[in-house]
Amino acid sequence: MSLLRVENVDKSYGDEEVLHDVSFEMDRQDVEVIVGPSGSGKSTMLRCVNRLTEIDDGAIYLDDEEIHGIDENDLRRRVGMVFQDFNLFAHRTARGNVTLGLTEVLGLSKEEAQAKADDYLGRVGLAEQADSYPAELSGGQKQRVGIARALAMDPELILFDEPTSALDPELIGEVLEVMRDLAEGGMTMLCVTHEMGFARSAASTLTFLDEGRIVERGPPEQLFDTPEHDRTRQFLGELTDLH
Ligand SMILES: Nc1ncnc2c1ncn2[C@@H]1O[C@H](COP(=O)(O)OP(=O)(O)OP(=O)(O)O)[C@@H](O)[C@H]1O
Ligand SMILES: [Mg+2]
Repeated sequence: MSLLRVENVDKSYGDEEVLHDVSFEMDRQDVEVIVGPSGSGKSTMLRCVNRLTEIDDGAIYLDDEEIHGIDENDLRRRVGMVFQDFNLFAHRTARGNVTLGLTEVLGLSKEEAQAKADDYLGRVGLAEQADSYPAELSGGQKQRVGIARALAMDPELILFDEPTSALDPELIGEVLEVMRDLAEGGMTMLCVTHEMGFARSAASTLTFLDEGRIVERGPPEQLFDTPEHDRTRQFLGELTDLH
């Protein structure tokens, strides 16, 4: 049984169709990477999965349960999200950012939440920075707080929306390393990223989305080395040249 099943999803904003008949499935421990040009609907697709955006047609199932039947808080706990611009609270420390969901959503005591936060900050290499505020952290550190915050909720699936795009090149590696560790540890991950090295080495499946449609989807080596469509070859070729 799939952990995530996206079935014939359509989404428009006004007259603009942003997702057209998108279907795919992920099993537990899969790492799915979505690539596509700017405006192709990648972020919208992720946002539909945790209902930050509502779909117009089709259906999305998490562990065989239609997501509209799941309480929103519950869905957001089960599906974590890591954002391009980190989305940290500036007035809370790294620890405070991680504890927030633990106390507010999971109902943990302050002490339990702090212990858990410190554990997860340690796992992403930030044991020393627990008391630092976002302004005192590098971009790579901020993003690792974002990942610790998602992980601490014990999600079944984590969505990553261009988690390294806002980072200086020298900070990208530390975030990708954490993501690789998660993938190896069996976390189920749905990632929008243009880091082709990560896609090649860590993805179980690569999806190329263009103008709201899945053009091609399969094992990364297939899309890179023997793509079915010229458009895929052209797009991945351009990306690989850039990186
Ligand atoms: N809240 C919104 N209201 C209206 N239009 C939107 C909204 N969000 C996205 N869009 C439009 O939907 C299309 C797809 O946007 P989306 O952000 O999903 O693309 P993307 O593939 O993530 O692009 P990028 O690579 O630039 O992040 C774009 O044309 C965008 O302008
Ligand atoms: Mg986007």
